[in-house]
Amino acid sequence: MLTDSYGRQIKDLRVSLTDRCNFRCFYCLPNGEPPLARKETILTFEEIVEICGIFVSLGIEKIRLTGGEPLLRKDVEKLIEKLSKLKIRSEPPAVAGGLIYQLKDLALTTNGFSLERRAENLKKAGLDRVTISLDSLKKENFKRITGVDKLDEVLAAIEAAKRAGLEPVRVNAVVVRGTNDDEIVDLARFARENALSMRFIEYMPLDSAHEWDRKTVVSGREIFKRINEIFPLALKDQTRGSETAWKYSFADSSEGEIGIIAPVTEMFCGACSRIRLTADGQIRTCLFSTTEHNLRDKLRSGATREEIIEFIREVIFQKEPRHYINDAQFAPASRSMSFIGG
Ligand code: GTP
Ligand code: 5AD
Ligand code: SF4
Repeated sequence: MLTDSYGRQIKDLRVSLTDRCNFRCFYCLPNGEPPLARKETILTFEEIVEICGIFVSLGIEKIRLTGGEPLLRKDVEKLIEKLSKLKIRSEPPAVAGGLIYQLKDLALTTNGFSLERRAENLKKAGLDRVTISLDSLKKENFKRITGVDKLDEVLAAIEAAKRAGLEPVRVNAVVVRGTNDDEIVDLARFARENALSMRFIEYMPLDSAHEWDRKTVVSGREIFKRINEIFPLALKDQTRGSETAWKYSFADSSEGEIGIIAPVTEMFCGACSRIRLTADGQIRTCLFSTTEHNLRDKLRSGATREEIIEFIREVIFQKEPRHYINDAQFAPASRSMSFIGG
C-alpha cells in the first residue's frame, strides 16, 4: 500500500501519454506551444507497462490515460492491451498482508476527435471507460473555446463510446463565466436526454497562457443552483471518499447523472488519492506541484525493482498537503494542464 505523510492512501495513477494536442482549449493550451517533451525523453510503451505494473503491485487500483490528447500517441490500443493484463493479476503477483493487488479500472480522457472510429477497438483492447471533454453544444462557441470546428465529431464520439460499452461515459465541461456558463442547463439537459454522466468543473489556474482570472470561476454551488432550479437534483451519496465529484441524479428521472467538481471553492485535497506520471516519466504528486521526480532516469539507469519501489515510496511521502490556489503566495504549477492531463 502506498501512503503519504498525511496518511492518504494513493490508489489512483494518471499517466500522460503525450503532451501534444490537436485542440487549443483556451483554459488549457491556447497558443499551441511546441511540445516540451522530445522523442527520446518520452517513456516507451514497455517502460509505461513496467512502471504501471510496479504501481499496481503497490496498491494502485485505477489507471487513467491522459495527454495532451492520448489518442495522438501511435498504437495506443497496443498499450491498453498490455495494461489491461494488470487487471488479471499484478506482474509479478504481489502479495502483501494476505492481499493480492490488481488493477480494477482502466480509463482514458480524450477530446474525442478520433474516438468515433476507435471506440470499438479500444474496448476490445481492454479499456473500461472514457471521459470526453465537451464544453459547449453550440458550434460557434465550441470553436471559440477549443479553437477547432469539431463539435459534430465530439458528439459522434460520445455516441460511439456508448455503443462500444465504454461506460459509464463521462463528459467533462470546464465552466467559465462569460464563455459557457449560459449553457449549464443545456448541458444538464443533454445528460438527461442521452443518459450520460455530465461533469461540471471549476476553472483552475492551469492554462498555459496564465490568463486565469478568479472572476471567471463559476462556483460549484452556483452551477448546482442553476441546474437545480430547472431540473431538481438529488445527491447520490452523502460521502464521496477520494472522488473529485459530488454526484447527483435527476429527481424525476433515472437517466443521466450530474457531477460537480469544485477544486477552487470546495477543495478536496484532504482525501486525495491521486498521483501523476508525465509523458516524459516525471512523477507529479499534485496537479499544482512545482517540482517533479524523475522516475524515467531512475528506470533507465538500470535500478532494480526494489530500488524503484523505494524511490516511489519516498516520492509519495513528499506529496503536498493541498493546493494553494486561494492563498496569496500561490505559485503556478510547473507545467500546464496540457502536460499534466487532468
Ligand atoms: P473518475 O475516475 O471518472 O471518477 O474520474 P475523476 O473524477 O478523477 O475525473 P477526471 O479524471 O475526469 O477529472 C475531472 C477533472 O477534475 C479534471 O479534468 C480536473 O479538472 C479535476 N481534477 C481531477 N483530479 C484532480 C485533482 O487531483 N485535483 C484537482 N484540484 N482537480 C482535479
Ligand atoms: N481547469 C479545470 N479543468 C481543466 N481541464 C483542462 N484545463 C483545465 C482547467 N484550467 C480539464 C478538462 C479536460 C481535462 C483533461 O482537464 O475538463 O477534460
Ligand atoms: Fe490532490 Fe493536489 Fe488535486 Fe489537491 S490539488 S486534490 S492535493 S492533486
